[in-house]
Amino acid sequence: MKIDENIKHSGIEHKVPISMDDTLSFICKTINENACKSVLEIGTAIGFGSITIAENTTCEFIDSLEIDETRYAEAQKNVAAHKLTNKINLHLIDAMDYLKTTTKTYDFIYLDGPKGQYINYLPYIIKILNKNGILVADNLNFHGMVTGEIPISKGCRAMIKGLKKYISTITTHPKLTTQILPIGDGLGYSIKK
Ligand SMILES: C[S@@+](CC[C@H](N)C(=O)[O-])C[C@H]1O[C@@H](n2cnc3c(N)ncnc32)[C@H](O)[C@@H]1O
Repeated sequence: MKIDENIKHSGIEHKVPISMDDTLSFICKTINENACKSVLEIGTAIGFGSITIAENTTCEFIDSLEIDETRYAEAQKNVAAHKLTNKINLHLIDAMDYLKTTTKTYDFIYLDGPKGQYINYLPYIIKILNKNGILVADNLNFHGMVTGEIPISKGCRAMIKGLKKYISTITTHPKLTTQILPIGDGLGYSIKK
């Protein structure tokens, strides 16, 4: 998989959360194997995920959502430097506002925004995911706090509760077939029936 080590290291250096290589490798393989054409990424950060997906898959376009102005501006620079402005559409927006109002539908959705909101986004995501479309949600282990391997830090209680609710909902949802995969920080892999 082709990745831009400079963007990755800039993310690490500036403490911007970026996707892990094995997570992106799984995502790219899944997009290619299922010939997914339309991709939505919730949580752009500085564009590492969308650039990696754009450069390693046959998808036609990626819409990517980011709420933070500084990260959005950095992502714009990185996407332009990779000459990918025709393939990656960056949106400076609260993901919930986008999900509630968009008229587009997607073959693949990468959920990597605010973890406590996954459960609230889910009904809207299911609406805009095409039949047989794939939803991958990152950080379902949240560094071991969801599984109980490490104690839940003080400020993380609500978020972990939200993630647990997300996991129990996707694994029992009548419109989804779901597996929880031990890749990266734990991935929810759901297919819309
Ligand atoms: C884990 S990072 C995304 C990493 C990115 N997917 C990648 O592969 O490099 C999550 C991002 O979601 C953004 N975010 C947080 N709340 C958001 C919201 N309500 N709407 C859109 N983006 C949000 C954060 O600012 C952060 O940059």
